[in-house]
Amino acid sequence: MWQPEPYRIKMVEPIRLPERVEREKYLEQAGYNLFLVPAEAVFVDLLTDSGTGAMSDRQWSALMRGDESYAQARSWFRFYEAVKGFTGMEHVLPCHQGRAGENVLFSEISKPGLTIPSNNHFDTTRANIEFYGAEALDLVVPEGRDPHKILPFKGNLDLGRLEETLKKLGRQKVPLVMCTVTNNTGGGQPVSLANIRGTSEICHRHGVPFFLDACRFAENAWFIKQREPEYKNKSVREIVREMFSFADGATMSAKKDGLGNIGGFIALRDEALAKRLQSALILREGFLTYGGLAGRDLEALAQGFEEVQEESYLQARVGQIADFGEALKAHGVSILEPTGGHAVYLDAKSVFPKLPAERFPAQALTVALYREGGVRGVEIGSLMFGKKDENGAFVPAAMELVRLAVPRRVYTASHLAYVADVAGEVIKKAGGEKGYELTYEPPFLRHFTSRLRPLS
Ligand code: F0G
Repeated sequence: MWQPEPYRIKMVEPIRLPERVEREKYLEQAGYNLFLVPAEAVFVDLLTDSGTGAMSDRQWSALMRGDESYAQARSWFRFYEAVKGFTGMEHVLPCHQGRAGENVLFSEISKPGLTIPSNNHFDTTRANIEFYGAEALDLVVPEGRDPHKILPFKGNLDLGRLEETLKKLGRQKVPLVMCTVTNNTGGGQPVSLANIRGTSEICHRHGVPFFLDACRFAENAWFIKQREPEYKNKSVREIVREMFSFADGATMSAKKDGLGNIGGFIALRDEALAKRLQSALILREGFLTYGGLAGRDLEALAQGFEEVQEESYLQARVGQIADFGEALKAHGVSILEPTGGHAVYLDAKSVFPKLPAERFPAQALTVALYREGGVRGVEIGSLMFGKKDENGAFVPAAMELVRLAVPRRVYTASHLAYVADVAGEVIKKAGGEKGYELTYEPPFLRHFTSRLRPLS
């Protein structure tokens, strides 16, 4: 039997669609970069699913229990028990968000000459690894790079290539192997338990620790329950425990499956490594029992880690993304398939087939969605990843995508149906699109602050 969302709305936040002339003005003022448009001028904001979720009544009441003591606060123990409960790991280092934990971890273990493989490293993970000198190596299965192949676990790590890499480099050159669940950079695609188990076996045979980037662990567990026959009759909580049981450590941005607006952690089995990371944590984030978070944040997250594993919630969450993908397809929009756990990715090349990558087709689509209906997504194409080679020639990104990430428990089915209609309108008017050129770009991470101008 079909089931709606297992919650109802107790508090609302008004949103407004600005007039078309206002939207045009906001775009111009922002240099056609959606990161620079005020959030108040956005009607449906699908920029990210990170820290943008709605907390439950239980999380809001947990905030009131926050113990703001500097050291050994009651709220820390609640957070610690919750994280230890689902990871099974003894050592937990709290931090204010995912990349802060990555920084603490990689400041200790990433060094020039070392390599850190993953299915796909998320941008901040890659940046932290490379900042401290190691190579960040992506080893996702080849199907994970094909936007239209329908397979259950396109986030899997290529075990053959992992084995080869570890044989070639040996444990001295590989301080750890990571696996991102779900695989955000590869479209939010899940990783199977068989693959997690296989990765762990290979790592341990070579004496290399295995870590999960666990931002979306519950969504991944839901996919395992749906798609991996062996796990059909296991509960999500059991699957979660089993996923972590194969890992030696984990990093997590709790702004995703912590159902919180801020927070993260590093969890470890190895006491010696935990001790090594403690000084870096104190230096960068704060004392060991708060790591840059208020006691009330720790409380809300402890509650969030519980709620996120409820199966009725996960069914509604992942179902909403799948329905959103179907609605977009019904409007003639080509999307990356199958849909993942947290976002739908639109293929901008199919919307603007004549626009060369130099003219930023995915940015053109991002701008058009805002212009048409006040919808904000994020470009994942040549504006984010395009480069110049040594001769100054333009090297485009592999794909020209726009990610529409859905915040947790925030928008209703009709908001997403509206977004699909807006995308349909954009497609109807796509013929006249001429694309964009950069008028300002910073030396790195240019998509956040660059400015552009429409071409005529
Ligand atoms: N790892 C993954 C897989 C992520 O998706 C993110 C963040 C991080 C690490 C870093 O966490 O933002 O708390 O520092 N992803 C967000 C996104 C920003 O929009 O996909 P953070």
